[in-house]
Amino acid sequence: TKRVAIFISGGGSNMVKLLESMVGDHPARACVVLSNDPQAKGLEHAEARGVPTEVVRHHPFGKDRAAFEHAISGAIAPYAPDLICLAGFMRKLTAEFVDPWRGKMLNIHPSLLPKYKGLHTHARALEAGDTVHGCTVHEVTPALDDGPILGQARVPVLPDDTEETLAARVLTQEHLLYPQVLARFASGDRRPVLLS
Ligand code: GAR
Repeated sequence: TKRVAIFISGGGSNMVKLLESMVGDHPARACVVLSNDPQAKGLEHAEARGVPTEVVRHHPFGKDRAAFEHAISGAIAPYAPDLICLAGFMRKLTAEFVDPWRGKMLNIHPSLLPKYKGLHTHARALEAGDTVHGCTVHEVTPALDDGPILGQARVPVLPDDTEETLAARVLTQEHLLYPQVLARFASGDRRPVLLS
């Protein structure tokens, strides 16, 4: 069974769906949930489900990303994770942290990559007049929101959509996509999952 560390920064709804999926004969189990923000609501959801939590605040480290990442490595090491799932983790990770985890770290991003790397993906899709939008799970490489695609789900963009209504439609698909990708990936199958 693969041991999975899940990194969050906020509500943790994707984290909850991952936790709920890792039962029975699933090839992975969560060993720890880590947040860079002690106020992240997702920490309470993890604790309620009996999953250990760790907080490594980024703020005290200022611009020293190496020290922040060193602290993260130290915080998760006792749980001996095999895989890391980024689930709404809003800090960039440098090559120093990412390289040792190559092929063992996943991220979910709220766009159909390679479109709209970075922030404000829903606003940018609306601005561009896209009629289709969605989300992507990919392997993490040192380049932001890059790396081999492991799954995508599409949603329609509707004429009256706002950033909020579109984000909610995408998030519903994120909740379906990420557990499916993790189950497949943890079993050693890297073929992409394509939804709708
Ligand atoms: C999700 O939409 C996720 O795709 C996005 O943040 C949200 C987290 O929601 N991630 C990024 O933007 C990564 N740059 P959650 O905390 O409820 O899972």
